[in-house]
Amino acid sequence: MREIKLFIDSANIKKIRQISEYYPIDGVTTNPSIIVKEERPFIPLLKEIQCVLGDEKILFVQTIAQKAEKIVKEAIYIRDFLSGNVVIKIPVTKEGIKAIRKLSLIGVQTLATTVYTPLNAYLAAKAGASYVAPYVNRIDNLTGNGVQVVKNIVEVLSKEYTNCKVLAASFKNTQQILDVSLIGSHGVTASPDIIDEFLNIPTIEANVNQFRKEWFDLYGSETFIE
Ligand code: E4P
Repeated sequence: MREIKLFIDSANIKKIRQISEYYPIDGVTTNPSIIVKEERPFIPLLKEIQCVLGDEKILFVQTIAQKAEKIVKEAIYIRDFLSGNVVIKIPVTKEGIKAIRKLSLIGVQTLATTVYTPLNAYLAAKAGASYVAPYVNRIDNLTGNGVQVVKNIVEVLSKEYTNCKVLAASFKNTQQILDVSLIGSHGVTASPDIIDEFLNIPTIEANVNQFRKEWFDLYGSETFIE
């Protein structure tokens, strides 16, 4: 059976704590925009996220540098400062692809981010990335079809690059998440607000209230365990 991984796209400790208390999440993804929103020193923030997640779940951390050599240095810096399960996110620029290749040769796991086309993903997978993150909603905003791009990436990677997983990112709504899950994405990362929307169906609450009311009316108790 194929498991679809679920990640929280946030660096907000309170929200990460809330979501991971209730939902079976696999880790956290961050990017520079997500980090700066918290207005906190970088490494202590990442360490606190890891404390909430525990050692098994994955924390994705993105590099900032432009040149491949500096990207590699940043990746090693992150890896040395953080214990546990860390994957380095690297944008799919030319320098980024070069860095992914170098890191792959020394055994550092990477996720190729800012992926807009199947060929972006192909280059990253061939360079040794463990994950690619197509930006579904940002592709849609460019009048493209984000879900179709994910479908094509899944197909391109499915034969020769099975070590590279598709972690679809950038969502505006739950329908986009369902669509990429149906066409074979290996995982999704979404904001806490969108993850909360998965269960936001008022009829569920109404059904449960009705069950509880009928039970209470007959047995006069809110539980069958006293
Ligand atoms: C995730 O890793 C991406 O950086 C993120 O999903 C981008 O999402 P946005 O388009 O909502 O900013």
